[in-house]
Amino acid sequence: MALDTLTDKIAMYSDREKEYLLKAVSAFRRRLIVVSQDFKILAANCSDEPGVDSTLVGKHCHKVFYDCDEPCEICAAKECIQSGRPTLRSKSDHPPDDEVVPCFYAYPIVSEGVIEAVVSMDFDLPTRGEIEEKLQRTNAFLRNLILSAVDGVIAADKNGKIIIFNDTAAEVFGYEVEEALSTLNITDIYPDNLEFQVMREMRSEAYGGKGKLRSYQVDVVSKGGERIPISLNAAIVYEGQKEIATIGFFHDMRESLRMKSDLEKTQLQLLQSEKMASLGKLAAGVAHQLNNPIGGITLFTKLVLEEYDLEEGVQEDLHRVLQDAERCRDTVKELLEFTRQTRQLMRPHDINQAISRTLFLLENQTLFHNIDIQRELASGLPQVTSDIQQLNHLFMNIILNAAQAMDGRGRLLVRTWFSEEDGSLLIEIADSGPGIPEDILPQIFDPFFTTKDEGEGTGLGLSLAYGIVENHGGKLRAENSSEGGSRFIIELPVAQKPTSGDNL
Ligand SMILES: Nc1ncnc2c1ncn2[C@@H]1O[C@H](COP(=O)(O)OP(=O)(O)OP(=O)(O)O)[C@@H](O)[C@H]1O
Ligand SMILES: [Mg+2]
Repeated sequence: MALDTLTDKIAMYSDREKEYLLKAVSAFRRRLIVVSQDFKILAANCSDEPGVDSTLVGKHCHKVFYDCDEPCEICAAKECIQSGRPTLRSKSDHPPDDEVVPCFYAYPIVSEGVIEAVVSMDFDLPTRGEIEEKLQRTNAFLRNLILSAVDGVIAADKNGKIIIFNDTAAEVFGYEVEEALSTLNITDIYPDNLEFQVMREMRSEAYGGKGKLRSYQVDVVSKGGERIPISLNAAIVYEGQKEIATIGFFHDMRESLRMKSDLEKTQLQLLQSEKMASLGKLAAGVAHQLNNPIGGITLFTKLVLEEYDLEEGVQEDLHRVLQDAERCRDTVKELLEFTRQTRQLMRPHDINQAISRTLFLLENQTLFHNIDIQRELASGLPQVTSDIQQLNHLFMNIILNAAQAMDGRGRLLVRTWFSEEDGSLLIEIADSGPGIPEDILPQIFDPFFTTKDEGEGTGLGLSLAYGIVENHGGKLRAENSSEGGSRFIIELPVAQKPTSGDNL
């Protein structure tokens, strides 16, 4: 600031403002002096005692304070006069473990481009120790913040060495925090070298801008080798243009994916049962339509037999018509029973009867003509509280699969018995087909899993069957029998015990 401006500025102050500014200088409890270019004191604020400061004016500061004839070596005012810039100098003789470093600070008063005087003052600068302590406190706070974050947090330096690994990350990955920090590299947490892909995407603009990844779905691998799907928000930490680290915040997706898949399964089951229900309605309609003509055929055949004196051969033929009509009537009755349009009702039901009904409907179909159906149905079985329509679908799906696997030729065993030990009723449906290849065995209950050609199977049959058994609190498992072929075991819990002990 030029002198004129400075003088003008001072002239603008009121007496009251000037008084306060002077008081402010006086209230500064440390030494403050104004010296000329030749180090003579022009004004001083050094002593609390009135009048003492004025005695210093005109004297050399180095003489007054250090009893030296020359300006001191480390004088901040001297350097300020030489450089024309504010200068900070520490006093050299302070103990290293002091909390503060005593310093001199000097700044110039410039008038028309020339240094008119220099202000020199004492003050204490906090030592590094104190700064470090403050820094450490801040770091500890940030560290706690990261460590207790609900999401997993992992950071790695440019060589991939893990430098942050919080408690959630430890929980998800199965490592101890210390173990991860000392032994783990970021490349270890990705399967199939996926870290290259992650870094490539992060350096691109594609996922939230360069150096960032937003809501990125990727798999990681736990200490035990389990692949874990995560949603990752990550960033590259830059120093200037240089990449110095990466940090990622992630969320374990297993639970939400499980919930999503449960939801999809339920939707599928709903869809399937709606399909079954409308099929049922259709079948029931057809059955009702057939009832009247079948009644007519039976009635009129009986009338003809009674009214006319017919040849023996004709009579035999008419008896066959009558028998077939009766079979039709029974089929219609079973069909009506099978597709009974009831609300989901849990009632005690005879399982043997439900199986027989399903078999009755199926065995007349061409696919079953060359299948030897063996029934080993134990008598005196307790009833099972169940939704009969669901049970019909359950048996139908498993028996149909068996017949399809045998390509319509072979032996089908349907066995029921009561297990005293488990208090459950067991149903075995075994076939003499090729069995289920071991590698697909864990998947056969998955929705849409099928080995059949397109149009031949949707892959929903067994997933529906599984859901039905679960709804009834039971268990369903599949295995290959040692004699060949596959075997499905359904276990349904029962409330009461069997009435007689003649279980098979
Ligand atoms: N008794 C069996 N013997 C051999 N493989 C079987 C047997 N039952 C089921 N499978 C296998 O399990 C798969 C899944 O069966 P699922 O009933 O769920 O579907 P699908 O029969 O293929 O189709 P959909 O029943 O929906 O028409 C079948 O494709 C088949 O590979
Ligand atoms: Mg099927």
